[in-house]
Amino acid sequence: MKRAFNFNAGPAALPLEVLQEAQAELLDFQGTGMSVMELSHRSKDYDAVHNKAKELLTKLLNIPDNYEILFLQGGASLQFAMVPMNLLAPGKVANVILTGVWSEKALYEIEKLGEAKIGGSSKDAAYKYIPTELEIDPSDAYVHLTSNNTIYGTQWREFPDTKDVPLVVDMSSDILSRPLDVSKFGIIYAGAQKNLGPSGVTVVIIRKDLLDSADDNLPTMLKYTTHVKSNSLYNTPPTFGIYLLSLVLEWVDRLGGVEAVNKINESKAKLIYDAIDESDGYYVGHAEKDARSLMNVTFNLASEELEKKFIKEALAAGFVGIAGHRSIGGCRASIYNAVPVEACEALRDFMLEFKKNN
Ligand SMILES: Cc1ncc(COP(=O)(O)O)c(C=O)c1O
Repeated sequence: MKRAFNFNAGPAALPLEVLQEAQAELLDFQGTGMSVMELSHRSKDYDAVHNKAKELLTKLLNIPDNYEILFLQGGASLQFAMVPMNLLAPGKVANVILTGVWSEKALYEIEKLGEAKIGGSSKDAAYKYIPTELEIDPSDAYVHLTSNNTIYGTQWREFPDTKDVPLVVDMSSDILSRPLDVSKFGIIYAGAQKNLGPSGVTVVIIRKDLLDSADDNLPTMLKYTTHVKSNSLYNTPPTFGIYLLSLVLEWVDRLGGVEAVNKINESKAKLIYDAIDESDGYYVGHAEKDARSLMNVTFNLASEELEKKFIKEALAAGFVGIAGHRSIGGCRASIYNAVPVEACEALRDFMLEFKKNN
């Protein structure tokens, strides 16, 4: 069996060990005589899987007691709307920090439902940096930002202190990649398909006091309290996805937790950023150095034609997912937790070789 060097942006590489574990118990999950996919979501066997995922997430992210963990569906994109539905009372304003396409999309949904303002933006410079001058008013309903900009390859190193205004963060592309002080956030949400598991599960971590503000007339499925009250089992959850999430969390735990994973991520990113920085301008990184993402390395070559050749030859050499997002082009290597160091070393070697030959 040959595994690809998978640099996809999401769905993305999963740890080989996790896939092997899932394969080994695919037909008979822990003596039940069934696949996890075939268990009732109301059974004791499934309950153990569901609660283990919550316990592991609590342990790995050190989630305090005054937070709830939800497993929802609809992707991070549904959270763009669910957050304002639940948090943005009439007459209040949501404060959105724009750092890329995904925060623009979050803003777009908020504006359908209520009032929003832009408290900071790096749009003027093709989203190459993370804005530091933010305008936050104590009366803002919440501040929304995207912690890692999957498309532009920038990442917040430190989060702003929003004081009493709840900070809502879309962490779809860097959750579980580094240590986090969860107590600084009102809501953290993430589609699972980059660092947590397969697509189909959305993790929401919400501070309990924020649950009180939702209008009673919200549709049942769109209200956070529905899912809190039912332990995310109001309707049928994505059981197999949650099971895989629990295996990914066990894998991170075995590696030594998020601190250990962060160190590995730093060394992986360094391999590729060094190849860019030491190329005498042959490869040009999109992000400003102090805003560089450890998850998505974005770069350009001298011309679109050369980029096409690079991507084509990379694919032929076994590197998958190197083309930049369709909205901005260029090249991108997504190096989430499960992308092995060896894959990054191989990409670095390929970049050096390509430069020599072209
Ligand atoms: C930062 C970020 N937010 C949101 C999304 C959208 O996620 P979903 O497809 O789960 O709705 C993505 C997808 O790539 C993303 O990278």
